Amino acid sequence: MTARTHPRRAGTAVLAMLLAAGTVGGTAAAAPVTAPPAATAAAFSSTVATLLSQMTLDEKIGMVHGGAEDPEAVGAAGYLPGVPRLGIPELRLADGPAGVRVAEAATALPAPAALASSFDDTLARQFGEVIGRDGRALGVDVLLSPMTNNIRVPTAGRNFETFGEDPLLASRTVGAEVAGIQSQGLIATIKHYAANNQEQNRMDVDVRVDEQTLQEIELPAFQAAVDAGAGSVMCAYNQLGGVHACENEDLLTTILREQWGFEGWVMSDWGATQSTEAITAGLDMEMPRGTYFGEPLREAILAGEIPEAALDTSVGRILTQMERVGLLAADPAPRPERDPAGAAQVAQQVAEAGAVLLKNDRNALPLASGADADIAVIGPTAKTPVVTGGGSSRVLPESAAAPIDAITARAGTGADVGWSVGEDLEGVLIPAEALSTAPLQRTGEDAVPAGEALDYAATVTAPEDGTYTLSLQTTGAGARVSVDGEEVLSTRSQFGAAGGSLIATADGWTNDTHYVELEAGTTHELTVTGEAGDESLQARLHWVTPSARERTVQEAADAARSAETAVVFAYDEGTEGVDRSSLSLPGTQDELIAAVAAANPNTVVVLNTGAAVTMPWVSSVRAVLETWYPGQEGAEATARLLFGDVSPSGKLSQTFPVSEDVTPVAGDLLRYPGVDGQQVYSEGIDVGYRWYDAVGAESLFPFGHGLSYTSFEYGDLRVQDREGRIEVAFTVTNAGERAGAEVPQVYVGPSSELTQDQAVKSLVGYEKVALAPGQSRRLSIVVEDRWLSSWAIDDDTWELGTGPRDLWVGTSSADLALHDTVDVRR
Ligand code: BGC
Repeated sequence: MTARTHPRRAGTAVLAMLLAAGTVGGTAAAAPVTAPPAATAAAFSSTVATLLSQMTLDEKIGMVHGGAEDPEAVGAAGYLPGVPRLGIPELRLADGPAGVRVAEAATALPAPAALASSFDDTLARQFGEVIGRDGRALGVDVLLSPMTNNIRVPTAGRNFETFGEDPLLASRTVGAEVAGIQSQGLIATIKHYAANNQEQNRMDVDVRVDEQTLQEIELPAFQAAVDAGAGSVMCAYNQLGGVHACENEDLLTTILREQWGFEGWVMSDWGATQSTEAITAGLDMEMPRGTYFGEPLREAILAGEIPEAALDTSVGRILTQMERVGLLAADPAPRPERDPAGAAQVAQQVAEAGAVLLKNDRNALPLASGADADIAVIGPTAKTPVVTGGGSSRVLPESAAAPIDAITARAGTGADVGWSVGEDLEGVLIPAEALSTAPLQRTGEDAVPAGEALDYAATVTAPEDGTYTLSLQTTGAGARVSVDGEEVLSTRSQFGAAGGSLIATADGWTNDTHYVELEAGTTHELTVTGEAGDESLQARLHWVTPSARERTVQEAADAARSAETAVVFAYDEGTEGVDRSSLSLPGTQDELIAAVAAANPNTVVVLNTGAAVTMPWVSSVRAVLETWYPGQEGAEATARLLFGDVSPSGKLSQTFPVSEDVTPVAGDLLRYPGVDGQQVYSEGIDVGYRWYDAVGAESLFPFGHGLSYTSFEYGDLRVQDREGRIEVAFTVTNAGERAGAEVPQVYVGPSSELTQDQAVKSLVGYEKVALAPGQSRRLSIVVEDRWLSSWAIDDDTWELGTGPRDLWVGTSSADLALHDTVDVRR
């Protein structure tokens, strides 16, 4: 058994007590503190050291928190004024993971879930370059992205913002993206450090995770981003081992700085700072205001409770990163122009390369075009595209075409392509006869004037039994709806981004929908309230009655029946701030798909979901294509995939469960969402596919799965441990008649010479390879020792798993055609 100590991983005993209450980082808030942490001013460049020596205490305080008014108000999430007299420029900090989120339009890229599913480092770099250039062009200096928290909970609201459930895939993707972002002079902020794996109780949940799991599952992608040079790290809202992440010394100093050698700065998530003393635990910047790092920090320094050297360290770290990207230069490079055309091309490539063909029986896809095309397209999101997920990562695209238009154009002359809504998200005005007062229709000249309030109250009487869709549609500041005193709808802005549903109305209004079961003849109280703000507020309250819903489903089924092929677009709505309440498609989409498939077995489902969903109808449809939230070029990419201009080549970056009850966190409240504010990651390292393997559970679609319009064959595996490197050589052949790209994946089994828990198999290498029909390529994948190692808690280091180990190569985690064993020796 050989222990390898990586050069920058000091052997400090850390985190051994993460499972014990209140022991980790428990010293963070203790004051007074006499010594500054880690770096001192002396460690900075002469430019930074000179600036530090010239700055007043107030100027330094002004560098470590947001809150000042941004004179240009570009719509960034955060702003710092800099120190103009010393040539330290302002800093604007903007989200986000799928494109730059400011008030102006920017390139809306596909969700990071799609990028990860492309398994393509080159695309990840280009994705970063697009965001980097857009960000600089739009007046931003620091990007609040990428998010690399591991997917642990299949329903977690922000899963679409991350790179999936595997540490190697996330590490490679984030490393390439960070390099791309920063190549354009934009500082990347890796978030949310750490164990921010769910939205429920995200501000406070106290995560108890053993150190091995933390190091092997959650942290690798953060470290990869640090290794790739990320300038900033955002600490998370949640607690870890009883201490909030933003004052957790073990996370912020021991692991981040001492083990990984991070030289950038740590900023808090918005409102995640807990104390002024957090600066001595390793937090450098409080965002978005200075509740703790403003006046209270100044007073603590003047009172001698916190050494000024701690502040110097933090300011020095920030200035160092600014210097690195040229922001401190006497004559800084001008901001670039945006490149909308080039950016759109990358957005489309990622949407195409990240789309995953989950099922394709009888070659239902690709679709025929021209006179052979007879297609019933169904679903609201075929008309109003889902572009991006919800919350702070929501991007305002310049434009986004409707998939139905792209499909019609691509189907070409002579094609018969129709559209039917199937699931109506807009309905009609709730009519006067169902209400105690006039319908709510404050539109046009009747809009609520700027500065005034909307205050509508009525009772509504249900005309029939069944599920109703309530739909609040607004422009301007938005409004909220309560039914019987409970708020059920809101179109007000959230996280500084548009509120409501991800799907606008056909006329571009913000929409929010709520499904409610009502009994005929029952009466309910309805209130709609809102404030008009600077602009007028328009609002209308619609519904879809149970019989209207049945009619739209019937119309869709009829359209499907009379067409050759039905293509149903289905969606979910992943968003920050709330976990999905279940893995089902929202509303009555499952029923819609079942009805369409019953009418026409030649049914293709296109999913616009940010993460895994269940598919009770899967056996009755021919094909399923997951296109995630595909960004502004999603319609074009989807049409090209459907008609076979490009063959799907994405692979699942997360497992799709068969059911709600068979997931790594199902049936254990302590695992998720936690009990009394605490949760235990008792599944240990068995996260994602590792858990399915460990318990022998079936998934619906496994990690790494993704079909193509062609087929690939694997052969001639040769594994060698040469000069301390495992080399896995094999041949992949495109055995079909179309061009396509495959992602061969290499997995290894456990080492019997390690005592740590180990997965049944773990991804240790992959490569994306494009092949012409009939073409073969011999690939050689080098497996780094890091991925053959387990974390040794006692030594605080990685320990190589030596001895004979199973090794597989294949097309998904559950379809591995080639097998050998490798004897790992050093
Ligand atoms: C989110 C961060 C985001 C920040 C600023 C927070 O609520 O958790 O991801 O960067 O807001 O918008």
